Amino acid sequence: MDEGIAARIERLIDSLGDISAPVKRALRAVPRHQFIPSVGLIADDTTTIIDHDADPAAWLDAVYANVPIVTQLNDGATDLRDETGGLYTSSNSAPGTVTDFLDLLDPAPGHRVLEIGTGTGWTAALLSHLVGAQYVTSIEVDSALAEQAAKNLSDTGMHPHLITGDGADGSPERAPFDRVHVTCGIRTVPYAWVEQTRPGGRIVLPYDPGFVAGHALRLAVRPDGTAAGTFTGFAAYMMMRSQRVPANAERGPERETRTRIDPRTITEAPPGAALAMSALTGLYLSTGRQDDRFLTWVTDPAAPAQWALITHVPGADDFEVYQVGDRPVWDEVVDAYFRWVDWGEPRRDRFGMTVSPDGQQVWLDTPQQVIG
Ligand SMILES: C[S@@+](CC[C@H](N)C(=O)[O-])C[C@H]1O[C@@H](n2cnc3c(N)ncnc32)[C@H](O)[C@@H]1O
Repeated sequence: MDEGIAARIERLIDSLGDISAPVKRALRAVPRHQFIPSVGLIADDTTTIIDHDADPAAWLDAVYANVPIVTQLNDGATDLRDETGGLYTSSNSAPGTVTDFLDLLDPAPGHRVLEIGTGTGWTAALLSHLVGAQYVTSIEVDSALAEQAAKNLSDTGMHPHLITGDGADGSPERAPFDRVHVTCGIRTVPYAWVEQTRPGGRIVLPYDPGFVAGHALRLAVRPDGTAAGTFTGFAAYMMMRSQRVPANAERGPERETRTRIDPRTITEAPPGAALAMSALTGLYLSTGRQDDRFLTWVTDPAAPAQWALITHVPGADDFEVYQVGDRPVWDEVVDAYFRWVDWGEPRRDRFGMTVSPDGQQVWLDTPQQVIG
């Protein structure tokens, strides 16, 4: 390997902190640049296009930095260079995110692994190095991305089993799996993944219930056909296509009230509170800014005409709640927040989830204490 690339990989590994030895070896064996298109988008506070042909050095610097590189907008309908942007629909995830999830997955040679969301193919290549390419199955919903990933993988001599289709169905014909690695955001865990995993096997996924933050979840599959586990940390990924937040916000009967609660008490609450509030209410919450105003939307995902907009104005005594529909969504979120306070403000890792054929349940401390 090019000495410059090897040195960049070592610097990247050093910058990532704690990583297991097998995952470090995989990072060395599977250089990231072989999976990054010549044009990509870096999205931090601002967006920057990296273009290998125009500036190869800047492209390589970005590829060996701990940043995600967006590779598709609006399911491919919009060019990456389009100034107006759009929804980020595929990326090569930040190396630190990839290594955290691989260590959570804990794959061993010979494990049969299912990956959901092939994207650029980099994770599938790392998994192939970790367990053996013949044991890896990876599913991508977007046919153009799947084709490019197949090319990237075969250019590097890796031949995992690739499927173009909806990852929610898993791959019954390649089951049972020892590990399922989901690399797109999930609100509702498809039971097919539990069914297709051997008892004792693990499923790791970014759980994103549409409420400020996403949470890494590790489930262990049990002999009774259920899976359960706790939330282990932060995780932000692009949503699975069928589980994106609908652009709802329809008009309906409206009224204005005021709240004494600073909305940032809710929006900036710790991840444990966010998990509790989303599980207790089933509502979505998002934020934005307008000049010096801080905006919070609470929406009912099942009813487009039930939502509220809370506007924080610096220095004000109380804040406007613009409420559409009958459901008092803001009050429900505030009540849920204070239930979390009354529970002693439990941290994220005290919450867990159980997935069974009947659906999923979020709990606090033990699977018996279901909260939503
Ligand atoms: C963050 S990217 C995955 C990155 C990838 N693991 C890599 O190493 O480059 C998320 C991917 O999930 C894909 N995806 C979204 N919904 C999906 C679905 N229902 N089934 C399979 N893939 C899906 C997206 O098209 C996107 O490529």
